[in-house]
Amino acid sequence: MTGKENAQRMEKIVSLCKRRGFIFQASEIYGGLNGVWDYGPLGTELKYNLKQYWWKVVVRDRDDVVGLDGSILTLPAALEASGHVDTFTDPMVDCRTCKARLRADQLAEKNGTKQCPNCGGKDLTEARPFNLMFQTQMGASADPASIAYLRPETAQSIFVQFKNVLDVSRKKLPFGIAQIGKAFRNEINPRNFTFRSREFEQMELEYFCRPEQGMDLLAYWLKERIRFYEEIGINRKRLHVLDVPDKDRAFYSKGTFDIEYEFPFGRQELEGVAYRTDYDLQQHIKSSGKTLDYFDEETKERFVPHVVEPSAGVDRTVLALICDAYDEDSAPDEKGKMETRIVMRFHPRMAPIKCAVFPLLKNKEALVAKAREVQALLRSHMNVFYDEGGAIGRRYRRQDEIGTPFGVTIDFETLGEKGEELRDTVTLRDRDSMKQERVAIKDLVETISSKIR
Ligand code: GAP
Repeated sequence: MTGKENAQRMEKIVSLCKRRGFIFQASEIYGGLNGVWDYGPLGTELKYNLKQYWWKVVVRDRDDVVGLDGSILTLPAALEASGHVDTFTDPMVDCRTCKARLRADQLAEKNGTKQCPNCGGKDLTEARPFNLMFQTQMGASADPASIAYLRPETAQSIFVQFKNVLDVSRKKLPFGIAQIGKAFRNEINPRNFTFRSREFEQMELEYFCRPEQGMDLLAYWLKERIRFYEEIGINRKRLHVLDVPDKDRAFYSKGTFDIEYEFPFGRQELEGVAYRTDYDLQQHIKSSGKTLDYFDEETKERFVPHVVEPSAGVDRTVLALICDAYDEDSAPDEKGKMETRIVMRFHPRMAPIKCAVFPLLKNKEALVAKAREVQALLRSHMNVFYDEGGAIGRRYRRQDEIGTPFGVTIDFETLGEKGEELRDTVTLRDRDSMKQERVAIKDLVETISSKIR
C-alpha cells in the first residue's frame, strides 16, 4: 500500500471507531482533551475481552503467576528510586515561530535542518529534557511533602510489593506478578489516534528468576507473547520482532525485544519484553532500606531475584486489533446488486458482540417471541445483540461492520411452518464467508461457544 492509501485506511478506521462507538475523543463536546480517549460501548467490550484473555493466559492458566492491583497515586520516593523522577524524560524543543512544543527526536529534517511540523519554521530552541510524569498534590496542604505522582508504568508497584506478595503467595522461583492498570505520561506530542496517549493502560508481568535463568526466560517470554498475539487474531505477517541494540537499551537491561505491529502509520511498538536484571529490586532495597530478597530453601542461598518483563499496552493492542480487522469486500444488497461491504474480521474470541439474533419479521409475534427466547438462551454464555429493525440484509451488514462473527435468524421454518423436521432450527450465518447453515436451537450454544473460547 502507498503512503496515501495507508493514510486513507487510517482515516476510515478512525471514522468507523467514532461512528460505531469504539473510540471517542475525551471531553469532545468541550473541544476535546488532547491525547486522551474514551471507549464507547463496543470499544469497552473489545478492551474487556483483550484484558480478560491476557489475564487468563498469563495468570489463571498458570501455577507460577499471581495478580496485583496497585494504586495509581505513587509516593515520590518510589519513583525516585526507580529513576523516573530524574530520568524519565523526552527531549523537547520549542518552535520560536509558532510556539509549538515538539519532541526533538521525532522532528523531520529538510536538507539536514530540523523543521517544525506545524509551521515549517526552522527557528527551534536547543533540546532540553522534559519529565513525562504527571504530578499532583495529596491532602489539603500544598507543601512539597504532599506531592504524589500518577504512576508512569504499572511495574513499580509490583517491585514495591514484591516481598508482601512473595510472603502471602509462598511461590518458588521462577514466578511472576502480573498487573493490568492505568498509567499516565505527559507525552509532548500525543499522536496516531490512541497509539501515543497521555492516559493509557498496560498489561505487565514481572517474572522473577535466578540470575542464570534470565536470558533463557527472555527467549521463552518472547515466544509466549508472540503466540498471544496470534491467538487474539493478529496477522503474524504484520508482527515483527526488534532485537533492541545495546545503545538503545536501558543500561541495566541485558536484552530487550520490541514486538512491533505494522500500523497504517508505520511499524510501531506494541510490547517490550525486557530482561531487567535485578536493577529495580536493588534500587528499592537501597532507597527503602528494606530487604527484598529471596531465600532458596534447597540451596540455602539468599539473593535478590532477577526479572524478565513482558510489558504490553492495552490501548495499542486494541488499536492493532481494530486495524488488523478492518476489511472491505463486496456483498449483494437487498436487490442482489453488489456493493462494498465494510467488515471487521475480529477473531471471535475478541469480537465485542459474539452473536446477533434476528427475527425475520418484526411484526410477526411468534417470530419475535422465539427470537427473544433464543437471545435469552445465548445471553448467559456470551454477549448477544437483538435486532429486529430493517431488512435482514441491512441488519447483517450492520453487524459485519462491528465484527459480530455470528448471526442467528429466526424464520418460518423455525416455527415449523415449512415442515416439522425444521421446527426449532435457525439459520446461523458466518460473518466472513457469509454462508448460512441450519442449526438446531438446542445445539446453538455449543456450536458458537466452541469458536469464541
Ligand atoms: N514497565 C516498562 C514500560 O513501561 P514502556 O516501553 O515504556 O515500558 C510498555 O511501555 C508498553 O506500554 C508499550 O509497549 C506500549 O504498548 C505502552 N505504552 C507506553 N507509552 C504509551 C503511550 N503514551 N500511549 C499508549 N501506550 C503506551
